[in-house]
Amino acid sequence: MLDSYMREVNYLRVSVTDRCNFRCAYCMPPEGVQQLEHADILTYEEIVRVVGIASRYCGINKVRLTGGEPLVRAGINDLVRGIKQLGTITDLAMTTNGSLLANQVEGLRQAGLDRVNISIDTLDEDRYRDITRGGDLQKTLHGLQQALQAGLEPVKVNVVLTKALTEQDLQQFYELACKLPLFIRFIEFMPVGYHGIDEGLSVSQVKQYLTAIGGSDLQPLDDIKGSGPARNYKLKGMQGVFGFITPISERFCQLCNRMRLTADGRLKPCLLSDDEIDIKTALRCGASDERIAGLVMEAVKQKPVGHTLTSSCQDTFHRRMCQIGG
Ligand code: 5AD
Ligand code: SF4
Repeated sequence: MLDSYMREVNYLRVSVTDRCNFRCAYCMPPEGVQQLEHADILTYEEIVRVVGIASRYCGINKVRLTGGEPLVRAGINDLVRGIKQLGTITDLAMTTNGSLLANQVEGLRQAGLDRVNISIDTLDEDRYRDITRGGDLQKTLHGLQQALQAGLEPVKVNVVLTKALTEQDLQQFYELACKLPLFIRFIEFMPVGYHGIDEGLSVSQVKQYLTAIGGSDLQPLDDIKGSGPARNYKLKGMQGVFGFITPISERFCQLCNRMRLTADGRLKPCLLSDDEIDIKTALRCGASDERIAGLVMEAVKQKPVGHTLTSSCQDTFHRRMCQIGG
């Protein structure tokens, strides 16, 4: 459906848990964050009901499961299957840190998952362990290979621009994208709820390095369906694509087509705003489908025209990224 600024909203990102087996430096402090109580987290039945209503009444046809880390929630295949069986979601994706992916890929594919995005902020094992505070790069790369083999394509790699990313990584990402059909997307760090990191490379620096590495200019590509706000480029020899997601230096709010559902049942019209609409209370008080649809429509109508976040602003958001799902 259309929001108040004539943007077509057809995409719902669903955070299925606020828990994570990593502690990425840009996302959480080392000790983690206070976790939701189990009783506060929507059940799979509740999530499937909301997605069903949002698709029937409001035209949502694209869903992404996020976290925390979605694969730490038990029985996630049941949720994937439940959403796919609605028959209204044509694009069902997941954003994962990839650490638990290798063993779960086949089950996820069979349950109906269409594709995955995997977060890999550096290809150096030591820096990967540091930035994730304990992650094993080889396990994640194995998960990535399995995802490609299972056909969960296009496999996208999310790289947040932090100090962990160096020129050497860019060379390796280039080589990886020559070998494999990966969409590698560089994402500007957003100071949401937590910003205990040093600034890394800027988008223009990454572009300069990549141009030098490829020995030719980055070739801009026309919009690729499903690429969201990413601006995509190729270098010669690449099977894959490089994308840049620039929420800070070049806002893309005018293209925004999404809403978010938090693990504790709040609809967020905008990632970068504290406004929320409680849907869990209605779900648990026997509200009709029409009433729930009314809340979803209200959230769509409340989408702001844009955000005003800058790289240096001291944010006052009450949720951290792991409690929203990126
Ligand atoms: N800024 C930008 N991207 C972030 N992500 C998590 N926190 C941030 C942040 N502060 C990204 C992760 C992951 C996805 C869930 O969101 O890299 O790919
Ligand atoms: Fe976990 Fe993702 Fe946050 Fe890293 S960015 S700690 S993988 S939720």
